[in-house]
Amino acid sequence: MRPESQPTDGMDRSPAIATTHWPALERLREIFLSGQPVRGSYWTCREDLEAYDATLGERIGWKWDAVLGELGRLGWSPPVGPLVDFGCGSGVASRRVLDRWSMDRFPEIRLIDKSSLATGFAASRLRGMAPGVRVVEAGSSDVETVMAGATVLLSHVLGEMVPAARRQLSSALAGAAAVIWVEPGTHVDSRALIAMREELLGAFSPVAPCVHGGRCGLLEAGQDRHWCHFFANPPMGVLADPDWAAFAAHMGIDLRSVPYSYLVLQRGQQPVLETGDPGEPSRVLGTPRIYKGFSRLFCCAEAGVEELELPRRLDEALYKAIKREEAGSLFRLRSEAGRIQSIEPVPSTPV
Ligand SMILES: C[S@@+](CC[C@H](N)C(=O)[O-])C[C@H]1O[C@@H](n2cnc3c(N)ncnc32)[C@H](O)[C@@H]1O
Repeated sequence: MRPESQPTDGMDRSPAIATTHWPALERLREIFLSGQPVRGSYWTCREDLEAYDATLGERIGWKWDAVLGELGRLGWSPPVGPLVDFGCGSGVASRRVLDRWSMDRFPEIRLIDKSSLATGFAASRLRGMAPGVRVVEAGSSDVETVMAGATVLLSHVLGEMVPAARRQLSSALAGAAAVIWVEPGTHVDSRALIAMREELLGAFSPVAPCVHGGRCGLLEAGQDRHWCHFFANPPMGVLADPDWAAFAAHMGIDLRSVPYSYLVLQRGQQPVLETGDPGEPSRVLGTPRIYKGFSRLFCCAEAGVEELELPRRLDEALYKAIKREEAGSLFRLRSEAGRIQSIEPVPSTPV
């Protein structure tokens, strides 16, 4: 077994990006961008999943890397027990999670998807990566039993679900031990995830990105135009890779911008961050706006969401780190009349 957090270099290489995949990818992307609930399955053959896994799925993997990195910074790990990948597709989410934490943590991985082609593909990739882990193709029936006591992963699935399916999912999730959920970083997807958060909070407390367990501040009057989103970076080398460049040009995708929304919940009421000195935990949403002598940060704290001004002279090094997108999104801060008076990143030292 690999120790925690060690990458599996070469163990789980995605199939190469091939121009022969493009017709399948065009069809899939059109479905994904339609934003409509999907009836039936769009996976027609194993090659669809291979094409997806090497490209669109891999790009989703960068979002998972960002989320799992943030959980590492918070010092949080999922509980020991089964892992469920709901709407697993090619299995990107569970492979990323197995890459991050010791496989000993998860004695069994249960794959749920309405497509048996998808669970079959994901299972074969997972078995190749983690021969010691029991992989179960659970289909999509009796989801409640499959999820009970498990850490449930969900990724890019909510937008495809009709309201009745969302309700069933929410009641099945209520029995989970933890939830790690990643969705596209659009306004509509973020708002759908916030609605799920509000439903699930009775049984769970938030780990990230939320800094409190109360009603989401974005639901308050006047906040409708905002949404909870972040940006991931592609791994080094992707932007210079000719295959990725050809894929991006063909599909009209900007590989530098990888927006996502996410939600991590754990059972019970256990605050990850204590409030109080030296400042209130605050999460910066979206992209900070940088001006010559200050930046504007759209901040979420227990008291609500608001845009705050960070004067450059308050902390020159932090101002520059924010400008270079190296400061993370979590801070402890104090503000007065829309101006930050004191601020420090969380964690205060890099981990
Ligand atoms: C866009 S793909 C995402 C796949 C994978 N989670 C990822 O992030 O790469 C959405 C997947 O969810 C599955 N799906 C959609 N609605 C579902 C439902 N109601 N129950 C189970 N699976 C569903 C689809 O078949 C598809 O495999």
